[in-house]
Amino acid sequence: MGITIWKEKLFILRTEHTMYVMERDRRGILRHVYWGSPAGIEEDFESLPEENSENGYHPYVDRVMEEYSSFGAGHYKETALKLEYHDGTRDFRYRITDYKAENNTLSIRLDDSSYPCGVTLIYEIFEKEDIIRRQVQIQNEGDSPILLERIHSAQFGLPGTDYRSVNFNGSWAAEFRRSEDTLSSGKKVYESLRGNTGHVANPCFILHRNATEETGDVYFGLLAYSGNFKVVAEATPYEYTNVLIGMSDTDFAWKLDPGKTLSTPSVYCGYTAGGLGAMSQSLHRFERNYLMPGPFAGKELPVLYNSWYATYFDVQCEEQMKLAEKAASLGVELFVVDDGWFGTRQDDTKGLGDWYVDSGKFPDGLSRLVNHVKSLGMRFGIWIEPEMVNPDSELYRTHPDWVYRFENRKILQGRNQYVLDLTREDVADFMIETLDKLLSQQEISYIKWDMNRSITETGICGDGTVAGKQIWLRHMNNFYRVVKEIRARHPDVEFEACASGGARVDLGAMQYFHEYWPSDNTDPFDRLFIQNGYSLLYPPKYMRAWVTDVPEGPTSRKASLSFALHTAMCGSLGIGNNLNRLEETELALIREQISVYKRIRPVIQFGDLYRLKNYEDNCFWAVQYVKDGQSIIFAFLTQSRFGKNRWRIKAAGLQGDGLYQVCLPGGSVRKSGAFLMNFGLEIRLSGDYDSCMILIEQEA
Ligand code: DGJ
Repeated sequence: MGITIWKEKLFILRTEHTMYVMERDRRGILRHVYWGSPAGIEEDFESLPEENSENGYHPYVDRVMEEYSSFGAGHYKETALKLEYHDGTRDFRYRITDYKAENNTLSIRLDDSSYPCGVTLIYEIFEKEDIIRRQVQIQNEGDSPILLERIHSAQFGLPGTDYRSVNFNGSWAAEFRRSEDTLSSGKKVYESLRGNTGHVANPCFILHRNATEETGDVYFGLLAYSGNFKVVAEATPYEYTNVLIGMSDTDFAWKLDPGKTLSTPSVYCGYTAGGLGAMSQSLHRFERNYLMPGPFAGKELPVLYNSWYATYFDVQCEEQMKLAEKAASLGVELFVVDDGWFGTRQDDTKGLGDWYVDSGKFPDGLSRLVNHVKSLGMRFGIWIEPEMVNPDSELYRTHPDWVYRFENRKILQGRNQYVLDLTREDVADFMIETLDKLLSQQEISYIKWDMNRSITETGICGDGTVAGKQIWLRHMNNFYRVVKEIRARHPDVEFEACASGGARVDLGAMQYFHEYWPSDNTDPFDRLFIQNGYSLLYPPKYMRAWVTDVPEGPTSRKASLSFALHTAMCGSLGIGNNLNRLEETELALIREQISVYKRIRPVIQFGDLYRLKNYEDNCFWAVQYVKDGQSIIFAFLTQSRFGKNRWRIKAAGLQGDGLYQVCLPGGSVRKSGAFLMNFGLEIRLSGDYDSCMILIEQEA
């Protein structure tokens, strides 16, 4: 395992189950050679055949898989870098000038052969998790600025074409709907131009060849960035697939001044021969171990109550206190007041930006509610949306120049709000100070940080050329600066990210936020699809899931409360019902399931996840979690069909020679791991929206 540099020519990265090989070829190009299961020793990769000499019809650089390519110089495929030097030269032709392996990081330096500009490719390996982090740094060592127009974080070459490409075709309340296409020719592009990750696609690539959950080659990469992104998978005519991932190049520019360096966001990538299930397990482990931030990364997340679907904007102190009493009696550990507690916020047309307590709703300030919540043994949390402002707000009236705009255009509104110009340091500082004050004045131990519109008119500091186009990246840099600073000042506060549901789920956000609200759609049937797609990339712990009143949300479906509870227990459980209106029997069921959840929580939040059945026969789902001899299976029947009421499922991740107590709805049985994994378990479900939970525990 580790990094090998062989005869100044071969660069080999090894993780526990993978191998990644690059070569400096005879022309000095850093060529991609191999990525897959361990494939031999250094000598095996010596003297591999190279492409024939230059041929006008088939430029050499288009025919080979490159580790990092630049627009121009015979590249007609999608390239990783596009720049312009002061004299109008618009390509980057390099020599490999340096390389070094330190600890688990390999860096390879490519220097332009005629201009003082260097690109460093960084590869950091995480051996146990089979993950490689890739990043690029570009350095201007000259006296004149360099204009960057595209700088991807990584480029990959995969042998052959006809890969199946998985991403998501989502929208608000319909996030993470899996979509899949075959890449036979041309380019497939997934992108966001919204200034955030967006609901539509996720900044990742997942490419496979007939993979199932358990088998098949899968290549994947996730961008750690919450702004505009672009993922390109190009089936070339030269029998390889050219893959690029990074910040979007649409309306992008960056002026790299003399002496300056720009670092791209990281990409976390991997290969597995074990199908989509192994991809998710490796990613989840990596995310839990390395990306999810302290101090909550290793701690169980609390069961929370959120007021949004119960009271919407009509947040009244007395009513919230009653909700808090009910929530505490159910076993809730954290009480969160959503939108509506501040400024003149009666609805979404006003108040955003005025982060002081609405004295009409809270005549004695927030402390009465906070103290009540605390006296009930719960922590207190609150909703904010710091990057936005309503035109009808004190903040906007005082600082109309603080929003993005083009001077001669009407500013577009989204959800009746404008976006604050976060490239301004005074705006960023205002956000930090305002949030710091809010968190210092009250005992707030949880923040739900929302973002409810995309960015438009990024023009205010623009001169019509480069400066305006830099806003996208500058906005993101300052967004991260603000969150980082607030987190540093309030290290014990738990932060949840949200952007109208799942419009900012990415590994960039994951480094700062402890959990995520994946969708405003809480319909438990739709949620099975959303959660399934989400789980491909992100761990259950990072997925807040609430039970809400029935019928609720966009679908008006009437699934049972027990079905909704089981669905929500697949992630970090939350309750969003109007508890003041529920029947005693319903409250009793919620209380019982919260107590069950608390017992199984370590397995759900820290275990390995197996998608055992994905909507089989259009109606049956089963998902399993395994940790240290304990395992939970949730099974869901969404619709009874043709009288079928028995389902055989094979468990996963157990020890074949271990003995397990299996607690099924009808009673307990004792079985070996081999039996459970090979013969399987029979599950009986019937009717519509039936579900069950199975507990499996290894005998000591
Ligand atoms: C959108 C979020 O997704 C909801 O959960 C809620 O917080 C509203 N915003 C509040 O305005």
